[in-house]
Order: sequence, then structure tokens, then C-alpha cells
Amino acid sequence: MLIKKPEDIRYSEVTPKSIYWNRRKFLAGIPAAFLAGRELLSPSARAWAGTKLNNLVKSPFSTTETQNTYNDVTHYNNFYEFGTQKDQPAKYAQNFKTDPWTVSVEGEVAKPRKFSMDEILKLAPIEERIYRHRCVEAWSIVVPWAGYSLSALLKQVEPTSKAKYVAFESYWDLKQMPMARPEQAGIKFPYVEGLRLDEAMHPLALLSVGMYGETLPPQDGAPVRMVVPWKYGFKSIKSIVKIKLVASEPSTTWKMSVPEWYGFYSNVNPNVNPVRWNQKMERRLPSFFQNHPTQIFNGYGDQVASLYAGMDLKKLY
Ligand code: MTE
Repeated sequence: MLIKKPEDIRYSEVTPKSIYWNRRKFLAGIPAAFLAGRELLSPSARAWAGTKLNNLVKSPFSTTETQNTYNDVTHYNNFYEFGTQKDQPAKYAQNFKTDPWTVSVEGEVAKPRKFSMDEILKLAPIEERIYRHRCVEAWSIVVPWAGYSLSALLKQVEPTSKAKYVAFESYWDLKQMPMARPEQAGIKFPYVEGLRLDEAMHPLALLSVGMYGETLPPQDGAPVRMVVPWKYGFKSIKSIVKIKLVASEPSTTWKMSVPEWYGFYSNVNPNVNPVRWNQKMERRLPSFFQNHPTQIFNGYGDQVASLYAGMDLKKLY
């Protein structure tokens, strides 16, 4: 049976009309040259993206499923700082300046410190991890990421016994991201996300610096992002500048926006449908058909289900 081509419903469609219309007005005010993706920023902005990563180590966590093309993965993005339409980040993030870059790792840790990108690149062997990536909007892709377990970075700062959660924060700069305004994107900035400490320490939780054997392109979260493959894609925060170990559950962007739809855990689950998208099936890009069965924990249940033993995943979605 043919399934009708699903509409590309965007998170921003939850935005109240007044905000939506303000956004339209705001867009009309953006210089045409910016919207055309022209060089308004420094030419050095591109320095980071697209550099070859040598000696990638193969990972036992990789799937053998067919990978999406580089073009699929880099031209169908959610990165609201650079626009709410799927094709906008590829256009408007091109001049995003990601060098120099530091990530501050702080909070309930014995050794808080800032890491430069050079330090992050050398901290552990960089692996290629081919993961399924499933968005709550019901589309999915298979991506060869490059990176290593976040636990390698967290161990460096020695979390204290008070650390129970990890809070992440993205870069936010209206000069470089003129569309990153709540009244335009329908969410607050900076983009923030969080994991429980045991989730963050799970080997599958990837700190990613690249894809397809190269450093990350800006629209995919350069220079460093999270990839949490058993959770909906919005947990995989991009362009991270701060990681804070904290004692209680941190605020997360989409939960703050629409708490009845987006939970803190957001594990991929075909049996829980708090949001408007039917989660039973997914649309594996570039297909138009939502005919690919969704797997619990996005197929990573053998590795991660024990993290949620005894929890009611219908309530704690
Ligand atoms: N991180 C930031 N800073 N801003 C965002 O808008 N979108 C999230 C997540 N990380 C987002 C973000 C969502 S909704 C998804 S599905 C994934 O990034 C998309 O990652 P991709 O564009 O690399 O596929």
C-alpha cells in the first residue's frame, strides 16, 4: 500500500502564529546578501570544516546498513541557529567561524578546564562510527560519524560524586547567526541539552568531530557536537561550547518549548507518541515514504535498555 508523502512538519510549526508572523517580518529584514549565503564574514571562517581526518579507527558499534550520501546528510538539516527550513543551514552556516574554538568542561568536577579543538582532537583515538540517526520528525539517516565516546572527555575532568547529569550548551552569536532569535525560530537560545551521567558515560554516546572521514561541515554542528544514537536527534546538540556536570536534571531546549511533547529522555520509541509525528514508522532519507519500521532505542536496545530498567518509558519519554 502506498503511503502518502509525509509533509515536512517542522518543530517550529508549534510556534504560536504571532511569533511565526514576526519571524516572517524579521526574515524580510535580513540583508539579501546574507540570505543568498554570500561572504559577509571573514574568509577564515571555513578553515575548520572539511579537513581530512587520518587514521580513523573502525568501531564495533557501526551498523552495516546502507549509508546516506554526503549530500543527503549535509543538505537536510535541523540547526535552528541558521534557519528553520531543512535547506537553510547548508546555505547560511557556510561562513560560521569555528576556529579558534574552546569547550569549557565545568561544574561538579575536580578538574574543570577549557579544551581547545586541538586538544579535543588528540584526547583519544578518533573512530569512525556508522550510526542510525533518527529525528522526532520521523525521518532517519545513516551517517559515518567520526569521534570518540564522550566518556573520554568527561574522565579528564574527574566528575565528583555530586555530578548526576551533564548539561550541554551550543554556541550562540547573533552576528553570525542573525536568525537565532526566539521570535523567529520559536525556541530559546542558546540551544541546550542534557543527559543523565550514566547515559553520557555510555560508550555509544559520541563526541563527534567529523563525518565521512572529514571534520564536520558547519551545518552539521562544526566543530564538535554530540551524537546520541538511541535518542531522537534533538538530543544530539551541535557546535558545543560548554559541558557542565550538575546535580539535578538540566533544562533542555525542546522540553522548555513544548513540555507536553518533548521529554528529557526522548529515547526513540515506536510505542510512545507524545508529539504529532507518528513514531511507528520512519522515513529513511532520501525516500519520501514513511515505511521503515521504527526500532525501540533506534535499534540500540541491546546496549542501552539496561540504563532504563524499572522506568516507565511511557511516562518518562
Ligand atoms: N543543535 C543545535 N545547536 N541547534 C539545533 O537546532 N537541532 C537538533 C540537533 N542539534 C539542533 C541541534 C535536531 S532537531 C536534530 S534532528 C539534529 O541536530 C539534526 O542533526 P543533523 O542536521 O546533523 O542531521
